[in-house]
Amino acid sequence: MRTPMMAGNWKMYKTIPEALALVEGLKKNVADVKNREVLVCPPFCAIASVVAALKGTAIKVGAQNMHAETKGAFTGEISPSMLVDAGCSHVLIGHSERRQYFGETDELVNKKMKAAFAAGLVPVVCVGEILAEREAGKTLAVITVQIKNGISGLTAEQAKTLVIAYEPVWAIGTGKTATPAQAEEVHASIRALYAGMYGNDAAQAVRILYGGSVKPDNVADLMKQPNIDGGLVGGASLEIDSFTKLVAY
Ligand code: 13P
Repeated sequence: MRTPMMAGNWKMYKTIPEALALVEGLKKNVADVKNREVLVCPPFCAIASVVAALKGTAIKVGAQNMHAETKGAFTGEISPSMLVDAGCSHVLIGHSERRQYFGETDELVNKKMKAAFAAGLVPVVCVGEILAEREAGKTLAVITVQIKNGISGLTAEQAKTLVIAYEPVWAIGTGKTATPAQAEEVHASIRALYAGMYGNDAAQAVRILYGGSVKPDNVADLMKQPNIDGGLVGGASLEIDSFTKLVAY
C-alpha cells in the first residue's frame, strides 16, 4: 500500500557541477523505476540547478533544512516559500546533525514541520537516539518524546502525507547499520504511537524511512521488514552506482 521512498541526503557535499554529474547518472539509471518514490536533497546552492536538470522526470528534490518563519530579518536563513520557489517538494526537518550541532529541539522541529506544510512542502521529520540512550535501554522512550513533541498538531490529511525518518545517531556515517530487527522494533513502535495520535488510517499511510549506513548490501534485508518503507541515505547517495542500486533494491 505504501510506496517505498528512497531519499538521498547529500549533506554538505557536491558543488553545482558535481551535483549535475550525479543527477545526470541517476536520470539515466532510475528514470524507469516503477513503484518507488525517489528524492534527492542537495545543498541549497545546487537546488535550482538540480531541479532544472530533473525537469520532466519523476525524481523529486528536497532541501535539508529551512527556517520556520515565512520571511524576515534572519541573516543566512532560507524560508519555506523560497524552497518552493526553487522547485522543492520536500524538506528534511530535525536531522540529528541539526539537533546535535545547531541546537534544534523538538519544539523547533514542530514549528518547522507545520511551516513546511503551510508552504506546501512535505516534511521528512527525523528522529533517533544516541548510543548512550540505546545502551541505557531508553531508545523507545526517547523516540516517543521526539514523536509526541515534534510531530504533534497535524491535521488528518497532513498526518497521512508526512514522512518520518528513523535514524539512530550511532548508525549515521559509522558503517554500523541497525540490524533489520532493531530497526523494525523502532519502526513498529513509531507506527503504533502514531496510530494513538492520529488514528489507524494515518498510521497505515505514513511512511517511515530508515537511515544510518544504508548500503547496497544491506538495503534488501532492511526493506523486507513490514514497517520499513524506505531509506534516508547519506554516504551511499553521493555516487551514481550505489544510489542506483539502492533505488532498484
Ligand atoms: P549515512 O547513510 O552516511 O550513514 O547517513 C545517514 C543520514 O544521516 C541520512 O540523513
